[in-house]
Amino acid sequence: MFVFDAYGTLLDVDSAARQAATEQGMEALKENWRPIAKGWRERQLRYSWLCSMMGKYEDFWELTTRALDATLEEHALASDYNIRNRLLSLYSELSAYDEVPEVLANLRADGHRLAVLSNASPSMLEKAVMSAGISEWFDELLSVDVLKCYKPTPAVYQLVTERFDCAPRDVTFFSSNNWDVSGAGAFGFKTIWVNRAGAAWDKLPGSPDRIVTSIAEGTKSAAH
Ligand code: LAC
Repeated sequence: MFVFDAYGTLLDVDSAARQAATEQGMEALKENWRPIAKGWRERQLRYSWLCSMMGKYEDFWELTTRALDATLEEHALASDYNIRNRLLSLYSELSAYDEVPEVLANLRADGHRLAVLSNASPSMLEKAVMSAGISEWFDELLSVDVLKCYKPTPAVYQLVTERFDCAPRDVTFFSSNNWDVSGAGAFGFKTIWVNRAGAAWDKLPGSPDRIVTSIAEGTKSAAH
């Protein structure tokens, strides 16, 4: 079966800031939407790891909001509530990467079971896959929220094997996040690193079973 990370893998995390930067009243984003998108994402993830370690779980939407607030403050935009609210609204309905709907439809047509495993809370995740137009293809949307800790805690990956009553090696896991690939591999999943940006592999435990530049490439030979 195939399991997908959500943010950055199926859903284009930069699309909120990229889109907002083109809109009227958002001129302050034109020059620096890229560093804002990057800083926002890096903080969101860092907060998830740190809160997990501290045993101070708060759901991913809350961390996403706080990460944005800190990032806007860094860019002297903390008082621009229009920008803040617009970015959050766009983030709650991110676009899927172009190839994603067709790839999922093809995998389903071939009889594969498909699931998402995400840090997002159930309501955030449901809304995201609905608005990206890809909800119909999944057997299950699995959220860390039941465990109150974040990836790459091993128990998070175990949610998949428990739900589908399968062994870790029965799961092929796609993620664009190399630390997520490392965590999933350590748990025993087969891993595919979707390295859209041509980044260097972080020197974390293990290495991906495959490295691809899109999900389409990753499923071509994996499915056969
Ligand atoms: C997720 C984050 C890690 O969807 O992208 O779980």
